[in-house]
Amino acid sequence: MRTEESPPVRLADYRPPDWLVETVELDIALHPEATLVRASLLLRPNGIGGVPAPVVLDGEALALRSIKLDGATLPQEQYVTTANRLTISQPPQRPFRLEIETVINPSTNTQLQGLYRSGSTYCTQCEAEGFRRITYFPDRPDVMAIYTTRIEAEKAHAPVLLANGNLVARGDIDGGNRHFAIWHDPFPKPSYLFAMIGGKLACVEDHFQTMSGQDVTLRIYVEPGKEARCGHAMESLKRAMRWDETAFGREYDLDIFMIVAVSDFNMGAMENKGLNTFNDKYVLASPETATDADFDRIEAIVAHEYFHNWTGNRITCRDWFQLCLKEGLTVFRDQEFTADGRSRAVERISDVRALRAHQFDEDAGPLAHPVRPAQYHEINNFYTSTVYEKGAEVVRMLQVLLGPQKFRTGMDLYFARHDGQAATVEQFVQCFADVSGRDLSQFMLWYSQAGTPEVVATGSYDALRRSYRLELAQRVPPTPGQTSKQAMVIPLAVGLVRRDGGDLPLKLGDGRAADRGVLTLTEPHATLVFADVDQAPVLSLNRGFSAPIKLITNLSADDLRFLARCDGDLFNRWQAFHGLATRLLIDNVSTLRAGTAIAGEDSGLTDALAATLTLGGNEPAFVALMLTLPGEAEIAREIGQNVDPEAIFAARSALKMMLGNKLAAPLFDHYRRLSERIPYRPDPAGVGWRALRNACLDLLVATGKSDAIAIAVRQYQAADNMTDRIAALSTLTLCDVPERRAALDNFYDRYHGDPLIIDKWFTLQATIPEPATLDRIKELTAHPAFSFGNPNRVRALIHAFALGNQKEFNRPDGMGYGLVVETVLALDQKNPQLAARLLSALKSWRALEPGRRALAQEALRRVSAAPSLSPDVSDIVRRSLAED
Ligand code: PHE
Ligand code: ZN
Repeated sequence: MRTEESPPVRLADYRPPDWLVETVELDIALHPEATLVRASLLLRPNGIGGVPAPVVLDGEALALRSIKLDGATLPQEQYVTTANRLTISQPPQRPFRLEIETVINPSTNTQLQGLYRSGSTYCTQCEAEGFRRITYFPDRPDVMAIYTTRIEAEKAHAPVLLANGNLVARGDIDGGNRHFAIWHDPFPKPSYLFAMIGGKLACVEDHFQTMSGQDVTLRIYVEPGKEARCGHAMESLKRAMRWDETAFGREYDLDIFMIVAVSDFNMGAMENKGLNTFNDKYVLASPETATDADFDRIEAIVAHEYFHNWTGNRITCRDWFQLCLKEGLTVFRDQEFTADGRSRAVERISDVRALRAHQFDEDAGPLAHPVRPAQYHEINNFYTSTVYEKGAEVVRMLQVLLGPQKFRTGMDLYFARHDGQAATVEQFVQCFADVSGRDLSQFMLWYSQAGTPEVVATGSYDALRRSYRLELAQRVPPTPGQTSKQAMVIPLAVGLVRRDGGDLPLKLGDGRAADRGVLTLTEPHATLVFADVDQAPVLSLNRGFSAPIKLITNLSADDLRFLARCDGDLFNRWQAFHGLATRLLIDNVSTLRAGTAIAGEDSGLTDALAATLTLGGNEPAFVALMLTLPGEAEIAREIGQNVDPEAIFAARSALKMMLGNKLAAPLFDHYRRLSERIPYRPDPAGVGWRALRNACLDLLVATGKSDAIAIAVRQYQAADNMTDRIAALSTLTLCDVPERRAALDNFYDRYHGDPLIIDKWFTLQATIPEPATLDRIKELTAHPAFSFGNPNRVRALIHAFALGNQKEFNRPDGMGYGLVVETVLALDQKNPQLAARLLSALKSWRALEPGRRALAQEALRRVSAAPSLSPDVSDIVRRSLAED
């Protein structure tokens, strides 16, 4: 156990390993309480430094049975074991074989790292540092070895035995009571990508022919009886495999690709070579059990894990500081994949909304850290939105700066140059510098400077000179450990929009044209003058969200309304509307807090929406996004300090109600038109129709009027798919009407026995914005369908409350924080990773108004005062409370 005072791991202290591992042969005899692991490692000195180095292996929760060096038992005085290491201080300075036998207990492993059990299935999770809980090993990603895995088990308990790579042998032993399987993975890999599975699993099989004509067997393993819900995951996998060939020239490289779905999983999924393990939530789907959003997420996650085969596995990370090298890049790739499969603008808006909701919040609070952190106490706490989503934005900016072709050439170079290596961010960026001839050293600040840059843009038109002057100023706010910042490279896609909606040519005063419509800000301030501008244009900046910044402009409400209708860039059309709504909501929050009633004035929001609704020509999914107001957490972040979540909730609800009332006619009209017997189809068009229809319903129900409620009830009952059923139920749960309880009870009766659907039922109840919710959640924790041992259940109920119910989580009596803190403390001994994630829901505490701020701080202090915290939770609580 590491203690709170243990020094951090620092990027600056990186040293290459003294010993490498050439091959690993594992022989694992599965047993519920005493699994025997025999590991045979071929070790080789790395030949750096020239001084004899000890062999230091990581190991945790292992019972050592025996250790042999080149076949001879190693005498006790030649090695030392501690709680987390095995050290041979004077090994021979030449290659040798080490054979280690350890015993582990998968049944008591509640952390879900290493070898554990999900139900009766044996499964492993090794990223980031779980392999050391299976055997003694140099458990660091820059030690890449070739693995051969033999697994044996009682046939009745584990008829299916899987590991990474290709199957090379299998057979019976012990007269057929036991059996074994041997898997060989020819690609060198770090230990975090090791995986094995043993259990009673059913499988669905398909095939894929790669671009060079290789046949690949595809298998998805699930609990028997769930096979019918694997179709979407399988189709997604095949689409992803094809897309990676066409978009990036990347082909799959083994005979078989397997996905195994398990019910107990700390994260979404894991990219183990040839054997991805998945949280079953991200595999299982049918129209009756999963929503359109679930379908989309499954597709994105299946693709994400598959894409890791090249970005993560073939080329891995030198050390955990380089985590964004695989995660940011792979998120970028999965976003592009999704964008190619449906509307690019809709995908971009959804991604940016998620980025602002999670990453901007992280960047604005005490847990802010750079995309590549410089130090950590607990690496598990750095699987964050900053590393993933902002990491993806940084890759996207390279694409914006270089243009798509050069970017692709850079990627090709990266794959060619670093295949089989454990690489760094510098090596990645160097590839783009090499293909473009650009100096990207200032760009590297995106990896080392935390915080969301703010850009103030002031435009003015000079009719006399027929010129448009744009002044830009950037600033990066201070973040923990980084008080003063340097100017960043900020690529800004720009448009000057004419009255008729077209774009004016971008001719800079010095005669240069803006390269592909992109201006690159590199200084703290810059002034640009556009020439030959024959009418006053409206500025459209950061189109497509070309940089992950906060943009402050001098655009008037009129300008925003104009852009919301006419901007040729769909992202900015949405952004303009979103900006208008945000401004209005912030004003209304102040009005409410001053004790005044909100005026009926809406700065033209209704008109803009009415125009969008009637304009035609807009994609339904896009219009649905326009109809969705900024979330409460986002409004809170825009307000930034002295935040009153109750006033935000009230202002947002009032605006929804007002829009629902004023736009009742077109909303009803749309709702009806879209209801006219559209048979359910899971394709993008069907998804768009449902999204729009349900966005209309949500605004109508927000009026609280009985005709709208009746429509929601009818939709709930008549729905032939989960999307429409959940949409109706979730809008109903926001209203304190008797129909709500009846519908929730009906939902439980329909779906009890199906844990993934009952999770939706937990979430809906946890997010009811009323004071009774807190007690209801406590009641639900005792419900037979709930369990603190299963991460999906905890996330569905407690996490959903803390993140999705801003008003009740931030109750003025502090009891919302109390619930979260009690859950964190109860969970911490069992599953520290899950506990730490839940605790980070309190990260925005400093932005709250004084009363709540004090209560939240007290709650955090209660955690920090608790005895024997895990390294995971103590790291989060220490950083959350740190004065900076
Ligand atoms: N590497 C996984 C991904 O694809 C996430 C993960 C991290 C899963 C750590 C388990 C443990 O993003
Ligand atoms: Zn990933």
